[in-house]
Amino acid sequence: MRVIERIDDLAPFHGCSLVPTMGALHEGHASLMRRATGDGVPVLATVFVNPTQFGPREDFSKYPRTLDADLRIAEAAGAAAVFVPSPEAIYTRGLEAARTEAAAWPLPPAATEPRLEDAARPGHFGGVCQVVARLFDLCRPAVAHFGEKDFQQLRVLAQMVERSEGRWGALRVMPGPTVRERDGLAMSSRNRYLAPERRDTALGVYRALQMAMSAQRPATAEALMRETLQQHGFEIDYCVVRDARTLLPVTGLETLCRALIAARLPEVRLIDNMAMPVWR
Ligand code: PAF
Repeated sequence: MRVIERIDDLAPFHGCSLVPTMGALHEGHASLMRRATGDGVPVLATVFVNPTQFGPREDFSKYPRTLDADLRIAEAAGAAAVFVPSPEAIYTRGLEAARTEAAAWPLPPAATEPRLEDAARPGHFGGVCQVVARLFDLCRPAVAHFGEKDFQQLRVLAQMVERSEGRWGALRVMPGPTVRERDGLAMSSRNRYLAPERRDTALGVYRALQMAMSAQRPATAEALMRETLQQHGFEIDYCVVRDARTLLPVTGLETLCRALIAARLPEVRLIDNMAMPVWR
């Protein structure tokens, strides 16, 4: 497996299947890479902790950086190469200019209308779209894989590509299912922040989603999630059932619905989501 640091060395990987990451890789990322090997083109993973998608009081400086382990995981999962760019290679006009550009990034509706991550993390999706657009420009993938764990991000990036008027050719955005620990906790690089004694508390998010699955309609699902999260001691950012495509409130029957949660413990903010049964 190759480790690429220079943009010029990406040329042989144009047309690849891309798996963009911020490193601190776990089985969720590995499963995306294994899926990508099925695309029949070389798999290129990227590792870049993108400063422009973190808010000023967020965890950019403490975000786990584990490059040696990441390279081993990517290789075992079938990546042909890992692109590990420097901030200068991504943001050629410097970080200050990049932050200004991210703040003005033209965002698709899924990044501004749902009032979920967009409301909880102002500026986040500007940075995500900016860095992913830059990675697409540099790597020119045929396919790009993103996990459903960050469900709103997946919808935002899918819409960004849909609205890009061919900037990235016939690029296809592929979702990868969330990978869970045996007890149901969704895998996340940020799970490393969880104090061991709070592990059972953290499972409240998964339990809340399971309660939502048992409900007969969206409003009941939302009430059950709220109750479960409160019982586990979470501060809730949101726990909602939304249209799985637009992420807007559900209006009609037979809509494909997704339950989405963001909730905070003192040391970590957890997000998770789950497809709901079709309610009639
Ligand atoms: O999901 C992530 O790890 C990041 O948001 C992404 C898509 C790699 C952009 O930095």
